[in-house]
Amino acid sequence: KTPVAREGSTLAFREISLMKTPGEVLPEGYRSRVIIRWGDALFEDVPDFDPATLTPDIAARQFGVNNDFLAFLPLGDDPSRGLLYANHEYPNPHLMWTGLSEHSAAREMTDNQVAVTMASVGGSVVELRKADGAWQPVRDSQYNRRITATTPMRISGPAAGHPRLQTQADPTGTRVLGTLSNCNGGVTPWGTILTCEEGAGEIFGGDWQSAPDHALLKRYYYDDTDNDRWGWTRVAPRFSLENEPNEPNRYEWVVEIDPADPTSTPVKRTALGRFAHEGASTILAPDGRVVVYLGDDWEFEYCYRFVSTHPVRPGGAAANRDLLDEGVLFVAQFEANGQLKWIPLVFGQGPLIPENGFHSQGDVLINTRGAADLVGATPMDSPEGFAPNPVTGTVIIALTSNDDRSDPDPANPRANNRYGHLLELRPPQTVNGRDHAADTFAWEVLALCGDPATPDHATRFHPATSSNGWFTDPDNIGFDPTGRLWICTDGVQPSGHDGLYAMDLEGYGRALPKLFYAPPAGAECCSPTFIDNGATLLLGIQHPGEGAASLDLTPTRWPDFDPTRPPRPSIVAIRQVAGRSVGD
Ligand code: FEO
Ligand code: CA
Ligand code: CA
Ligand code: CA
Repeated sequence: KTPVAREGSTLAFREISLMKTPGEVLPEGYRSRVIIRWGDALFEDVPDFDPATLTPDIAARQFGVNNDFLAFLPLGDDPSRGLLYANHEYPNPHLMWTGLSEHSAAREMTDNQVAVTMASVGGSVVELRKADGAWQPVRDSQYNRRITATTPMRISGPAAGHPRLQTQADPTGTRVLGTLSNCNGGVTPWGTILTCEEGAGEIFGGDWQSAPDHALLKRYYYDDTDNDRWGWTRVAPRFSLENEPNEPNRYEWVVEIDPADPTSTPVKRTALGRFAHEGASTILAPDGRVVVYLGDDWEFEYCYRFVSTHPVRPGGAAANRDLLDEGVLFVAQFEANGQLKWIPLVFGQGPLIPENGFHSQGDVLINTRGAADLVGATPMDSPEGFAPNPVTGTVIIALTSNDDRSDPDPANPRANNRYGHLLELRPPQTVNGRDHAADTFAWEVLALCGDPATPDHATRFHPATSSNGWFTDPDNIGFDPTGRLWICTDGVQPSGHDGLYAMDLEGYGRALPKLFYAPPAGAECCSPTFIDNGATLLLGIQHPGEGAASLDLTPTRWPDFDPTRPPRPSIVAIRQVAGRSVGD
């Protein structure tokens, strides 16, 4: 049941103070433990972590780098076993190895180092077991698996086989190597993982302007900056637009992974559209169809929703193997009257016709952004976290920022939106819960972020928000088992640090955030995930030490604090020493 406070917040922890430190900052009475770090062995035969002797084969058998999304899936009925899934979004060569410069690493890396970066991104599946109250990875578990930038995958759904997905290596347009820029994600009701490819433009090299599909590349923000950022074209020529002009079209999808079957082939589900997928949060509509909420994390891009054609069937992954291949992708249009209309992106409907360059549903999906442009979708201020509250069924959207906005609209109400905001959507209530498949929702602004003490910021938080509690740039969101909202910011903020904030959504404490956690200097915390009925909070700690020089931070070597080892992105488990639920 959702707690409702008459005064103050229902969140009982003592708020921490803003600070930059080489380590973590937690409220009094809380402890954090590292569960797994970049470079930890998933298998017994893997040598101890040593960046100097890393090879791609070793890296592909270790926990990857820069974990973002994480998920925990119970394993059978045993409360002391589970599977951890984590995304590994991108490499930081200059933090992985000494002697590389931040901006020239692509040139400075050896070919071996380049190949190691390709083996260190993607995802990890790791079995966890609880021993003496602490979750620990199980080496050599039959479930342990690494997904990398070279793992074979299948392409399915309406765009599979499309000529624009065909390459020299794959004339069928249905087989692709690897997944890229895996940011956030989701878990399906049948126990599989959805990992999201959030853009690929910086990975590809070569001349985009002379590519045959250059208008599509332009709409997907290919430009002259940050190309071939990690030197991958040197060891994988398919990442050069001149060699394989269609290769970019094979990324920016949602990929489904069955973590319970380590031999399964991950599948790129084209029905969920192609754009800078931030995440993919799922919920069931009252009739049993699955609804997936999808944000395109870029300034002036859109909020999407997928609704499956068929209801979810009992029987887990095997019974729902192709459920995400059939359904309708919708894009959001926010209206001034507090209504949100979901507009279907279906070939042949409205402007999605050959005269406008759309000859099939595959064309609509490969150029999802172009399709959404034509139907009158509302351009948003960089949608990141976008997820239904499992307790109340309302849907929260975190819009990070958009300082290029000059024309405010009702759902993006500030020009020069440097600080971001939160929206709350209300699908219509039915006797069987909220109807996430309905054509129309209600919506309202939940908070306008920034410093309430600075009138220029024009914030809208609860008036009791403290000088530590305000935040900017909301990114990943999560809900505790009572339906309270937990928000991670998007890296180091104007406040001087990244943080995890919590707020009530009901009662007096609605939109009254409190600062719960600050990660080590330069890191951002990601994907707040509650397990053990709320007694444990799992948190991803991405890129500790990043940007230390420019941010005037003390360089950190968290979590080992060993001068011979780099800082290591990790997953931590946070608990109250007294054992009460996190936040209570
Ligand atoms: Fe990878 Fe949108 O953050
Ligand atoms: Ca993010
Ligand atoms: Ca983040
Ligand atoms: Ca981000």
